[in-house]
Amino acid sequence: MDFNELPAHVWPRNSRREEDGVVTVAGVPLTELAEEYGTPLYVFDEDDFRSRCRDMARAFGGPEHVHYASKAFITKRIVKWVNEEGLCLDVASLNEAKVALAAGFPPARMTAHGNNKEPEYLELCVDNEIAHVVLDNEGELAQLNEIARAAGRVQPVMIRVKPGVDAHTHEFIATSHEDQKFGISLATGAAFDAAKAALESENLQLVGLHCHVGSSVFNAEGFKLAAERVLSLYKRIHTELGVALKELDLGGGFGIPYMEYEEALDVAKLAQDLLAAVERTAHELDIEPPFVLVEPGRSLVGASAVTVYSVGTVKDVETGKAELPIRRYLSVDGGMSDNIRPALYESEYDVRVANRFTDGEPVDSRVVGFHCESGDILVNERKLPGDITTGDLLTFATTGAYQYMMASRYNGALRPAVVSVRNGQANLMLRRETVDDLLALEVN
Ligand code: LLP
Repeated sequence: MDFNELPAHVWPRNSRREEDGVVTVAGVPLTELAEEYGTPLYVFDEDDFRSRCRDMARAFGGPEHVHYASKAFITKRIVKWVNEEGLCLDVASLNEAKVALAAGFPPARMTAHGNNKEPEYLELCVDNEIAHVVLDNEGELAQLNEIARAAGRVQPVMIRVKPGVDAHTHEFIATSHEDQKFGISLATGAAFDAAKAALESENLQLVGLHCHVGSSVFNAEGFKLAAERVLSLYKRIHTELGVALKELDLGGGFGIPYMEYEEALDVAKLAQDLLAAVERTAHELDIEPPFVLVEPGRSLVGASAVTVYSVGTVKDVETGKAELPIRRYLSVDGGMSDNIRPALYESEYDVRVANRFTDGEPVDSRVVGFHCESGDILVNERKLPGDITTGDLLTFATTGAYQYMMASRYNGALRPAVVSVRNGQANLMLRRETVDDLLALEVN
């Protein structure tokens, strides 16, 4: 493996290593960004994100079919990009909704999710005329109807159903995913009852059903099976209640490669397969094919960003294990506070030195953070060039999704700055936290 390469399917589309060995993103050297904004630093390639939005929109038949799942990464600037690209926007909490509205996103293109929506959230949806509320449970259905009645409005809704498909197993076991908190069961008939209740609620308008089979899914089969099952409920609703639901929301979850050896998912092909399966199933069931929506998060924003760290302590540790007597520990100035994913999911990342070429012999290494916890590991076991040293900029690719959003303040960590780059220009998106931000919460 050539450690100086930047695997194109994992790194932002506009990143390259220049002749002097320095990595640039959209023409901006990461060395300059580290100098100006400090490390750790998240760097977002704006054109990468926008181009992925366009690819996804093209694959599914237009931007109105694609809802960016903003939980993956939301700031006002990202919301503005999503708006400019014509996509719709999913929020999954009250405060995500508030950020989106603060950025001026049109509520008519927003969908609100959540399995435990507080009254203030439901009221905000109704008051701002958010296009869809995805109902999670029967109690929420009744509550939203009341809130909409009080406001003198009819709120369009979808119902989240559990299709009973666990897309992470090979056989897509029918019952495996009943035992989780989201949605209403299809198998028990509860989803049909909820649809009936929604149709009978004067201040709700049922427009469709929603399902989500999981995250980091690479295989179209799970999505197809879920679509088929949910469509069988469209049929039942049509037959027994005389209503043809117009929309079908298949959720997000398209997997992306994090490591060089992983392959990218062909989204265009997946979309084609999925849309064809919906058409075919609808035809077989003799119902109108619904308008299909998807809610990708990671596959739009994951590969758009990298995280730049500075290397501090370098330590060769005697492991006491015969098979690996010495392991090199490379400590960086972030860790589990800005990327919990390795600790939480054993996630792996492509890691390169960004400030120069490296030519050291591969050494058994572990990349760790500065936190007081031995599980604070970013790369568990990897051969990394032996010349990596204090002051180098170790850079992780594919850090756009579920990293900053899951960041913590453990050990007084300050959330890093986030900068976006485009055409040789850098623009600060979120400033780095300061210790005053920590102290600002103190009451005395
Ligand atoms: N729609 C719904 C209803 C979802 O629950 C999710 C993700 C998405 C869309 C977007 O999924 P995506 O396309 O980004 O895979 N923290 C985890 C991921 C949790 C995903 C939760 N729901 C991680 O870091 O991998």
